[in-house]
Amino acid sequence: MPSEPSAVRRHPEELRSFRWFGPDDLRAAGHRSRAKQMGLSEEDFAGRPIIGILNTWSELNTCQTHFRQRAEQVKHGVWQAGGCPIEIPVLALSEIYMKPTTMLYRNLLAMETEEVLRAHPLDGAVLMGGCDKTTPALLMGALSMNLPAIYLPAGPMLRGGWRGQSLGSGSDVWKYWAERRAGNLCDDAWREIEDGIARSPGHCMTMGTASTMNSLADALGMTLPGASSIPAVHSTHERMATACGRRIVDMVWEDLRPRQIVTREAIDNAIVTDMALGGSTNAIIHLIAIAGRAGIRLDLQRFDELSRCTPWLANIRPSGEYLMEDFYDAGALLGLLAQLGDLLNRNCLTVNGKTLGQNIDGAEVYNNEVIRARDKPLSPTGGTYVLRGNLAPHGCVIKRTAADPRLLQHTGPAVVFRDYNDMNARLNDPALEITADSVIVLQNAGPLGAPGMPEWGMLPIPDRLLKEGVRDMVRISDARMSGTSYGTCVLHVSPESYQGGPIALVRDGDLIELDVEGRRLHLHVRDDELAARRDAWIAPEPLYPRGYGKMYSQHVTQAHLGCDFDFLHAGEEIADPEIH
Ligand code: FES
Repeated sequence: MPSEPSAVRRHPEELRSFRWFGPDDLRAAGHRSRAKQMGLSEEDFAGRPIIGILNTWSELNTCQTHFRQRAEQVKHGVWQAGGCPIEIPVLALSEIYMKPTTMLYRNLLAMETEEVLRAHPLDGAVLMGGCDKTTPALLMGALSMNLPAIYLPAGPMLRGGWRGQSLGSGSDVWKYWAERRAGNLCDDAWREIEDGIARSPGHCMTMGTASTMNSLADALGMTLPGASSIPAVHSTHERMATACGRRIVDMVWEDLRPRQIVTREAIDNAIVTDMALGGSTNAIIHLIAIAGRAGIRLDLQRFDELSRCTPWLANIRPSGEYLMEDFYDAGALLGLLAQLGDLLNRNCLTVNGKTLGQNIDGAEVYNNEVIRARDKPLSPTGGTYVLRGNLAPHGCVIKRTAADPRLLQHTGPAVVFRDYNDMNARLNDPALEITADSVIVLQNAGPLGAPGMPEWGMLPIPDRLLKEGVRDMVRISDARMSGTSYGTCVLHVSPESYQGGPIALVRDGDLIELDVEGRRLHLHVRDDELAARRDAWIAPEPLYPRGYGKMYSQHVTQAHLGCDFDFLHAGEEIADPEIH
């Protein structure tokens, strides 16, 4: 059962920050004098909850350019409620610019979040994120530190537009790029698409990883109810930011902490929501990592169990037709959650002090084309399936709703690329033996091999086949895939090839059988032959001689375990620092 928030308000001397600012001693005098150096008076900070506003704003992160203004609005709310706000810049994790992938650095932001909260005189936190990895990273760190915290979602950007058609982040880039490679789109048209696809601040407005993870933070109870769906540039979003500032102050007085909110039941709510949204496959990795920080062991199988009984309701690209602005107008996340009804644990506590059930009571859907009714789903089962077999003994995933139904049961000969560079060098080689029935396999793209498990999983189709009209093929890798991508892409194969998993042993021409309904991925090679190949397999050299990459390589876990560092899972509490 979820814990109840404390009905008793804490006394100012019980505030964590009081240990820095309260005592009549030399060290506290130093702390007070430096607060005054910032122009604060004693009545501004003494006896008030000090709220850290962890802001992932940076000019490198184009999804969050409104966060400077939003931070000011959070501060207004904190002051209004009797707290003292302190803005703290943290790693921006720019999905667009970071190489090789932000996934390499998700755990770094999670560590920064935890340690920033631990090391400073903070009583609570507003976590400002939105672009893909910022959401899981901030939540992971906040769960580990377990100070009162509220997540402020960046909100989706406005829909894109081109020649009278709407454009969706990512999804329509992949779609029109394929048309350009097929010779169907001129340079001018392509430039117009570049100009029109990202028209405002906000994260990607398809049901990519950002929309998925922000919605799941909402379903977990870590945002103000429904905050995740509000478009970034709406005035409602500004008011929501101020409300976050007000609410976190009360959460500190109530001592309402993330681990009271992120329970096993709340994690189930997030998984059910993910399935009903047709959400990003990346959510699986992130939720396992988030649960791990809360001390909850989450097995890949739980996603498949809940997928089987959860209808897909949100008609959003890439699996569906519409965009997040349409979703907001159609009733938004609260409307969708109300549709899910008995599939959710209504008693889960949320940051506003109410239960999820109380928050969704009365929420309505205004457009059943965008958010389907429970009895008229887009599919009776969820968006993501978990597969196993001799090619993925620890599991792999497929976004069934984004795949060509024709290919959900398919057997074909493998065309193997040993890494990303090999694929780019040979994919369009006229000598490459490949047909629409081939199964493309990319090795060495996993958590260790790439490194960082980049979003390469929507493997490209050769130009020659595109010109013949082929738009989907079975593709298999140990990589991830952008939530905005689509196609019959089997992802997160575990163990990965860099560790000598069976995917490392596949050779050109081997028959691979994909049976999505049967949850099976099978390599038709005899066991003794596979054993011989394994004996001949040579482990790759380490990729990093030093630095963060070396630490990452030594401690990151495989995809089915969430790719967190093994030493960051929940364990014994770390004591607060001594104040000397
Ligand atoms: Fe930031 Fe897509 S690039 S959410």
